[in-house]
Amino acid sequence: MAPSGPAVTWDVHDGIAVVTLDCQDQPVNVISRAVKDEFIATFELLGNDPAVKAVAFFSGKKDNFIAGADIEEFVRLSSAAEAERLSAGGQEMLDRVAKFPKPVAVGIHGACLGGGLEFALACHYRVATDDPKTQLGLPEVQLGILPGAGGCQRLPRLIGARAALDIILAGKTERSPKAFRLGIVDELVPPAILRDITLAAARKLAGGWKPRRRRPGGFFGWLLDGNPLGRALVFRMARKQVVKQTRGNYPAPLAALEVVEYGLKHGIAEGLKREAQLFGQLAVTDVSRKLVQIFFATTQLKKDFGIPNPPPPATVRRLGVVGAGFMGAGIAGTAVAQAGVDVRLKDADLPRVAKGLASAREILDDRLTRRRRLDRYEHARLVALLSGSDTYAGFGGADLVIEAVFEDLAVKQQVLKEVEAATRDGSVFASNTSTIPITRIAEAARRPGQVIGMHFFSPVARMPLLEVIAGARSAPAAVSTAVAFGRRLGKTVIVVKDSPGFWVNRILAPYMNEAAHLLLQGVAMEEIDRLMTQWGFPVGPITLLDEVGLDIAAKAAGVLHAAFGERLAPPPALDALVKAGRLGRKAGNGFYKYASGKKGGPDPAAYHLLGAHPNGGVRPAEIIQRLTLVMLNEAARAVGEGVVRVPRDGDIGAVFGIGFPPFRGGPLRHADDLGAGRIAAELERLAGQYGTRFTPCEVLQEQARGNGRFYS
Ligand code: 3HC
Repeated sequence: MAPSGPAVTWDVHDGIAVVTLDCQDQPVNVISRAVKDEFIATFELLGNDPAVKAVAFFSGKKDNFIAGADIEEFVRLSSAAEAERLSAGGQEMLDRVAKFPKPVAVGIHGACLGGGLEFALACHYRVATDDPKTQLGLPEVQLGILPGAGGCQRLPRLIGARAALDIILAGKTERSPKAFRLGIVDELVPPAILRDITLAAARKLAGGWKPRRRRPGGFFGWLLDGNPLGRALVFRMARKQVVKQTRGNYPAPLAALEVVEYGLKHGIAEGLKREAQLFGQLAVTDVSRKLVQIFFATTQLKKDFGIPNPPPPATVRRLGVVGAGFMGAGIAGTAVAQAGVDVRLKDADLPRVAKGLASAREILDDRLTRRRRLDRYEHARLVALLSGSDTYAGFGGADLVIEAVFEDLAVKQQVLKEVEAATRDGSVFASNTSTIPITRIAEAARRPGQVIGMHFFSPVARMPLLEVIAGARSAPAAVSTAVAFGRRLGKTVIVVKDSPGFWVNRILAPYMNEAAHLLLQGVAMEEIDRLMTQWGFPVGPITLLDEVGLDIAAKAAGVLHAAFGERLAPPPALDALVKAGRLGRKAGNGFYKYASGKKGGPDPAAYHLLGAHPNGGVRPAEIIQRLTLVMLNEAARAVGEGVVRVPRDGDIGAVFGIGFPPFRGGPLRHADDLGAGRIAAELERLAGQYGTRFTPCEVLQEQARGNGRFYS
């Protein structure tokens, strides 16, 4: 990002210099090298100006404070030494702010992240708006780096090591009320008075006022943070937790932990040195590069409607949801919680509707109680937006209707006809199918242009991905509307081709099938799961089967088998588990045992039904190779068929849809890293040993012949 004019401007009124940061022509403020130089020059001038007694700092952007250091600059860094210098330069600038001889008060509204928060921490007084847009955090570890402009030093000193580690190690962002409770922010005010209160604080500080800060946490907090023994315990526990969570795949959180500990032990100056050193090392790692690519891909997807010349989306004010089961209720609850739309939930009978409404409401309750994202009044307002019925009464005003009924073509077509009869012509009908082609569903439509697919993932409130599927006759406006609404629900949206399994289930199917083949060959289920979580997936494939439900997985596998033939055939032995009613977690038993909702160990009964005997017969490296290459092969084949428009969408779909390890960048980036030649050769070997399901697809073979890649 190159600003077109000065970003930092100021005016002096009554002894207070009001400094404004506004990176011209850019949607958000970021601290680039150029902005840093302007900061230094500005503070130099203000320091020398006798008319200036204090500084009040604001952002000139409507809803953004500072989004951090300029991530695009990291991409261009070529050595750890260069990255270390960048970090040290930022630290030096903020050190000048912290040691500025005149008080600096900062008024924060909008995102205050990374280097933005580090700047605010260097200032002497922080006022923030209570607006939901005001979020403060240090998301650096999510980019594979650590807060490198003093954040690892100043935050623990301000709020205690425990609370600081909680934010730094997870790359967390907190809304301003929580930041206020933690002591990151000194004052919380409505946006209308941010300016006045910050100016008043600057004036008071200039007059010698010393704000008194009490570290939150009381005696218990002191016990853990305030003495060396307690602190050692805090670090030991945090380290254990990080190792468990990252499994050694993400170096940044451990490095950040080391820097915080080092700084508290050896003082801020030494801490800053170590911070810059480790920042430098992390910034040029492959893990960081991959995570930064994911950040930019996700950002691009916020603006991409997935079709050329997208027409403006219709604004959805009223949503109809048909099917009050787990998915339907999840969609209804998420729509109210995220988008504040009026939702009408319909099912065949009232008890089901009532159950669905209760489960939708749980999403709102969770935001009120556990996550404290809503206050009581907002919660009550949103609850009132949820209503339900066993008829289509209330659907007349719906701008969008999403069906989440039983996965059966005839049932979905029947619902479509009923919805068309109950809604106005402009209303869009979206099917939340995971397997049935949208074009087939739309065959029953009077207005096929208004029919589209919106494939949500379960649980809807938590899963970040949405696949939007355009059928052969879907109108471009219906696509834009579905994509825009998906974004309002907070989802990352990819637009995919109307092909069996779409993208996510298509690449998941051969992976799940292969896990079953391995089980039948005598590999223990916990060994398969352990190896894949170690490789970077959040859960292993056997646990995932239990979570999804064996009946649902079998149905999806059947559809893909029918569409693509032998290659995607699931091992028939799995049917025995479904027939025995072992449907996974929801049934209380599947592959693993479950007791009062908690997962236990492998269930010998499952092995017995499968006729499988764990014997340790396959080498771990071979297990990993079979599972990952079979997925990469299918992903490459699907790209060749145009299931996703660009590799970026495929990688984001895999990372957000099935938890493909983000540090590997997604299956297509990972394929590029391995090289098509190597993958194709390994697949040939596996095909020779285990059968044609491993035969390398044409896309990989062609890449292997011509040194091709997915990303140039
Ligand atoms: N650096 C460079 N570009 C950035 C940026 C950053 N820190 N933050 C946002 N942008 C860019 C985006 O790429 C996008 O560019 P484009 O319009 O050219 O595609 C534009 O700003 C708008 O971003 P969004 O579309 O994401 O806008 P939203 O309003 O949806 O979200 C946001 C705004 C919450 C600030 C979000 O952009 C965000 O989370 N940004 C990243 C925050 C972050 O990770 N900061 C830490 C940076 S690292 C750091 O500070 C290191 C320090 O410790 C030394």
